[in-house]
Amino acid sequence: MDKPKRIWKAMLTLLIAVLEALVCTLSSAPGVWAQIQGSVFVDCGSVARYVDSITNISWVPDAPDYITTGVNGYVPSASSIYPNFSEFTTVRYFPDTRAKNCYSFPVMPNSTYLIRGTFFYGNYDNSTTLPSFQMAIDGTIVANVTFDNAAIFVYYEFMVASVSNVTFLCLLRDSSNSVPFISAISFSFLPVGFFYSAISYFLYGTQRKYFETKYRLNFGGDGLVRHPDDEFDRYWFPIQRSNSTFIQSTSPLQSLVASKIVGPNNAVVGEPPETVMDTALTSSGNITITFPDDYNYEYILSFYYAELNSTANASSRNFYLEVPGSDYRSVLLNPYSNNSNVLFTPVAQLYWGVQYTPGTDIVLYPDQTVSSPLGPIANALETWEMSTNPMATMTNNQDAIAIEEIKSSMNLTDWTGDPCVPVPYPWVTCSTDSNFVPSITAVNLSGYNLTGPISPSFNNFQNLTSLALDYNDLNGSLPLLNHLANLQYLFLQNNSLSGIIPDWLAYLPSLSELFVWNNNFSSPIPPSLLSKNSWNFTYLPGNPFLQGLSSISNTKSTNIAIIIGPVIGGILTLVIIIFFVLCIKCKSHAKGFTKTKEKTLTDGHLQMVKPAHGGANPYSFAEVIIATNNFKIQIGKGGFGPVYYGKLEDGQEVAVKVLDAKSSQGPYEFFNEVDVLSRVSHRNLVSLIGYCLEDDQQMLIYEYMHKGSLYDHLYGDLSTSTHEQLDWTTRLHIAFNASQGLEYLHSGCNPSIIHRDVKTSNILLPSDMKNAKVADFGLSRLTYGENITHITTNVKGTAGYLDPEYFTSQCLSVKSDVYSFGVVLLEIISGCKVIDTTLPNREAWNLCDWVRFNLQEGNINKILHPIVKASNPNLDAIWKVAEIAIQCVEPKAIHRPIMTKVVEELRVAITFQEGNALPSNYSHSMTYEIKNQSGPKWC
Ligand SMILES: *[C@@H]1O[C@H](CO)[C@@H](O)[C@H](O)[C@H]1NC(C)=O
Ligand SMILES: *[C@@H]1O[C@H](CO)[C@@H](O)[C@H](O)[C@H]1NC(C)=O
Ligand SMILES: *[C@@H]1O[C@H](CO)[C@@H](O)[C@H](O)[C@H]1NC(C)=O
Ligand SMILES: *[C@@H]1O[C@H](CO)[C@@H](O)[C@H](O)[C@H]1NC(C)=O
Ligand SMILES: *[C@@H]1O[C@H](CO)[C@@H](O)[C@H](O)[C@H]1NC(C)=O
Ligand SMILES: *[C@@H]1O[C@H](CO)[C@@H](O)[C@H](O)[C@H]1NC(C)=O
Repeated sequence: MDKPKRIWKAMLTLLIAVLEALVCTLSSAPGVWAQIQGSVFVDCGSVARYVDSITNISWVPDAPDYITTGVNGYVPSASSIYPNFSEFTTVRYFPDTRAKNCYSFPVMPNSTYLIRGTFFYGNYDNSTTLPSFQMAIDGTIVANVTFDNAAIFVYYEFMVASVSNVTFLCLLRDSSNSVPFISAISFSFLPVGFFYSAISYFLYGTQRKYFETKYRLNFGGDGLVRHPDDEFDRYWFPIQRSNSTFIQSTSPLQSLVASKIVGPNNAVVGEPPETVMDTALTSSGNITITFPDDYNYEYILSFYYAELNSTANASSRNFYLEVPGSDYRSVLLNPYSNNSNVLFTPVAQLYWGVQYTPGTDIVLYPDQTVSSPLGPIANALETWEMSTNPMATMTNNQDAIAIEEIKSSMNLTDWTGDPCVPVPYPWVTCSTDSNFVPSITAVNLSGYNLTGPISPSFNNFQNLTSLALDYNDLNGSLPLLNHLANLQYLFLQNNSLSGIIPDWLAYLPSLSELFVWNNNFSSPIPPSLLSKNSWNFTYLPGNPFLQGLSSISNTKSTNIAIIIGPVIGGILTLVIIIFFVLCIKCKSHAKGFTKTKEKTLTDGHLQMVKPAHGGANPYSFAEVIIATNNFKIQIGKGGFGPVYYGKLEDGQEVAVKVLDAKSSQGPYEFFNEVDVLSRVSHRNLVSLIGYCLEDDQQMLIYEYMHKGSLYDHLYGDLSTSTHEQLDWTTRLHIAFNASQGLEYLHSGCNPSIIHRDVKTSNILLPSDMKNAKVADFGLSRLTYGENITHITTNVKGTAGYLDPEYFTSQCLSVKSDVYSFGVVLLEIISGCKVIDTTLPNREAWNLCDWVRFNLQEGNINKILHPIVKASNPNLDAIWKVAEIAIQCVEPKAIHRPIMTKVVEELRVAITFQEGNALPSNYSHSMTYEIKNQSGPKWC
């Protein structure tokens, strides 16, 4: 246990890879907006790039690449107080009153970055009070920036994992309301294999902790060490023999200096630079290192030592490192213990999960049991405080992308950072879901002097309930906003919008107030809008189509036709009649699928669907032809018919499922699916965007899922780039997400919905691979009433996935889906097909039997797919999934769990996998376990 673990050696091999990566990065000279792969040093408020002659740092200005708000400020006192810090002579400050101003840095998702904000006040604004404000990274406030003295700089440095391809560094006003400013930012990518990846357990996954640099000490050094000695420009503070704040000893302290450090190019792997390791303090007695903090916190400590005494040998120096608050309190150290030839070779000793309590000291003391003529030696030390709480969850991706599109097309780019956290933009209201993921529920841009057209991206806000764009000068027609199923208020009055008021507004299920007055909308008003009951639709005064009637202003109505009286009623009747005549006319033209621009709103078929057609839009056959480029790219084939790739007029990618006329499943399924899909909306269910019903043509238009089906990824040609292999964590997330979709069908819908055809090819994957969605409700039937647990129907479904009880009883229940989902889980674990008669071993033909057999034998290794095995799965997580899968495929429905239970169990499995549930003992000394990856014979 007490065996010292060295990371230096293990780093060597990684170092080579890292060096190569760096060389490539440098030679490809990325543009400013390329993802940061090395370090970026930003001199805030400066106007041009320059290379500092003392630190040799290439400083870049902050605006306009990283920020567009704020003002450049000059700090006259900086050059005399800190002549070596050229970056302190300018600042960017933020006199406007907005709550937050954010820098945006392009990053690689899921990577570790070291981020430092440096602040030298220097009384740049001639204010009589010292400012105070806050610093945030992404959605988390990480520091209260305060000053004791105008002439001393402060810095706050953090190690964080990136979540998306941008990381924000924000400055926020605090209750003092003073003006935030910043002098410099250093932003460094920490490569994989870098020292810090040892703590990825805390940085990533469900923990999402962040680390603040507390101490970075250079024992025996003289003067601050930074760039160019330290590639990341980390600050190493000198600790002299006399510095009793940090170091004391029972015998006199001695300095050791060498310039012979042997070892890797240290700065690259994140070890202290050579200059730091070249000096040390030693003593023949105990050395005590004291941290002057007066509060409790959890931290990481890295202690570095190297033999600097050239006359020393393997038995000269044995000493203990005692770190209170760690499970590995005392560790015996000897610079030679791993390697007989390590004079001047640095060794790092890493501790994490250490509890700091005021008054506890770190002690280095000589080993009394063996001969140790030389006492302990200390070259360098780093500590980081671990955050108590995880980083705040950022706004959900779909909303975040939509708001960026809206900002850039509507000239709102001065609003920076995440829309919701740590504080929302003033024109946005957010709420969080049960997983604490924020989403945008209201946008209020009333009177923001907006011009130009309305961005179609508003349609992507899933939870938007209110959209106010009134009192601007917006023009153009209203974009399609038909996905806003929760939208209650739409305020568009007092703009210059034109075109026809679109009819889909009548079908927004929650819309209760629609204000469009004082615009340039043209006639006719769609009858569907006028006939809709119980809402407030106000279109007067000021739209040309009812000029001369403007005396009837601000009409509030439950039924507009009644309120506006017989005269207008007459006109409207006329309008409606003309509209119908026109439609019938164009309908008759539509025979040969010529240019029918009108949607078949009056189509007789449609009435079957209309009552429940929810957000799904009708499309004409002509529109589908254009969208699919005449059915050019077929992306799949289901029981229903072929599926084609398409792109709608607004750019949205879609999958168009064409009902095969000869298909055994007829128009009933078609209507059924439109009906069912338009009622349900869940992030783990593929959403129906529209449908086409024209003569014999019946098509369903779905959102396009970029990565195809789970089936493709499990069994597809893995050599093609589109079918990348799924590691265990990804599989687990796919299973978890799909289970939530099914659970929603079963428990979130009333009456509940039985999918009836759950299988891997009906689980579709988006670009991120993990947020799987369940597709194809073509076979679904609504169950009726809560008391009825099953319905009888004709047997339909796919061999291998079918509930065995269903064959005999003809009874279909939600438990039939559970059975099928169990089979999917087994495939996810094993990568074996449900029924595979090509296998030599007959027992393995039926996946369920084979897995059940092996699990009974406790032989889980045998069922794991090689890729699952190679991704170092957590065994508890695997067992959890296997167990629930086996329960799901119980022959008798009554023994199977309900979907809610399945979701719960999978959540637990994810917790195991991602280490949310802490192992009982997680304070560790550094050790890397390389798991045996050679597995037993494969099925
Ligand atoms: C992010 O990276 C960490 C460590 O490199 C890894 O453990 C984790 O699985 C990754 N997560 C995602 C979502 O890619
Ligand atoms: C601060 O005072 C100095 C000297 O009076 C003046 O030159 C400078 O412009 C002032 N700076 C600001 C930001 O007001
Ligand atoms: C900032 O100060 C407030 C008030 O003292 C405190 O509650 C909060 O924890 C501090 N935040 C940080 C990141 O230190
Ligand atoms: C001890 O070192 C710390 C950190 O470098 C420094 O802030 C402090 O002023 C030093 N104290 C003395 C007495 O040298
Ligand atoms: C040195 O430290 C060790 C471990 O904390 C302690 O047992 C010993 O008494 C100390 N020696 C002196 C002289 O303080
Ligand atoms: C270096 O080691 C020798 C013995 O090998 C010892 O006599 C000498 O004091 C040591 N020097 C220091 C500075 O520790």
